[in-house]
Amino acid sequence: MHPGLFIVLEGIDGTGKSTQARRLGEWFEKQGREVMISREPTDGPWGKKLRESAATGRLSPQDELQYFLNDRRQHVEEKIAPALAAGKVVILDRYYFSTMAYQGARGFDPAEIRRMNEAFAPVPDLLLILDLDVDTAHDRIGHRGDSTNEFEKHESLTLCREIFLSLKDEPFVRVIDSNAPLDEVSERIRAAVEG
Ligand code: TYD
Repeated sequence: MHPGLFIVLEGIDGTGKSTQARRLGEWFEKQGREVMISREPTDGPWGKKLRESAATGRLSPQDELQYFLNDRRQHVEEKIAPALAAGKVVILDRYYFSTMAYQGARGFDPAEIRRMNEAFAPVPDLLLILDLDVDTAHDRIGHRGDSTNEFEKHESLTLCREIFLSLKDEPFVRVIDSNAPLDEVSERIRAAVEG
């Protein structure tokens, strides 16, 4: 247990997580709360390797999973746990639910990934899943689904979305329909947080 407030935003690429994380942070700051916003993969050594691999060729599934776990372990130890212990509002743009979804889509068992993470990573107080259908999300980040590669990506993002949505009935989870203007989505998020 900790005196802080731990909120995680998840969703497939193009759902607006980073913008909404920033806005939510500003909203808490206006109320006089101390806020720490962070993201995964992080800017630390493991996160850097992961971002580089997106450009230079994807890692093996096993290495990729291991790097995400290493990155998160460091993130928890060095940033998340101290901020929560200091009573801050911690807002994350992606966390281990992304590992369940994305590495789950690469063939690992999401339930097993969850167990591996919850062995060291604190469960958030609130998980907001920004939900959008894959085509709309894809259009927002400027991709067109017409090559074989894009087709595979579409398949894999569909599976990611399903894995995220499989969490919807857990008590700490709220699904936010993100097929709306930014301001409207921010409103929905604040309503979920106040609830
Ligand atoms: P993303 O938030 O899209 O980073 P950027 O702001 O640099 O675009 O994250 C990069 C990718 O990493 C994204 O496609 C999801 C993926 N990812 C995983 O596969 N597993 C994980 O555990 C995390 C945190 C992210």
